[in-house]
Amino acid sequence: MEITKFQFPTHKNDTGTLSFLEAEGHIPFPIRRVYYIYDVQGDSRRGFHAHKNLQQVLICIHGSCKILMDNGSEKQIVPLDNPAEGLLIENNIWREMYDFSPGAVLLVLASQHYDESDYIRNYEDFLTFVKENEA
Ligand code: TYD
Repeated sequence: MEITKFQFPTHKNDTGTLSFLEAEGHIPFPIRRVYYIYDVQGDSRRGFHAHKNLQQVLICIHGSCKILMDNGSEKQIVPLDNPAEGLLIENNIWREMYDFSPGAVLLVLASQHYDESDYIRNYEDFLTFVKENEA
């Protein structure tokens, strides 16, 4: 599975560091929604779904976490621990997020507004959906 990561421009000086990103410049879609996951408890695992159309970029802006990506035939684990780096998750990818360090914050940029009907929350349904869309 091809993993696409983006490195965001970063300005560092003696006082601190600033990174930035621009929709359609550093991110390959117009950003229509931003959400963030934080205060993750203990060994909690989140996600457990795929999207039919949504594209997302994940940035661990504080701390670290791991992302499991699964395209139905191959799985890959991607560690995120750099606030200046974004991970692209395209549609039809099952994802799980876990191993959050205490205080970690995962920022997500999304290509569409929230739409529950775009979610596939059952793994067997995901495998079926992937097969149907390959055919
Ligand atoms: P969910 O996507 O299941 O979270 P995760 O993938 O991190 O486990 O979303 C959790 C809840 O939040 C669910 O009830 C849907 C709601 N939600 C919104 O209302 N708007 C949003 O933009 C998102 C991402 C979730």
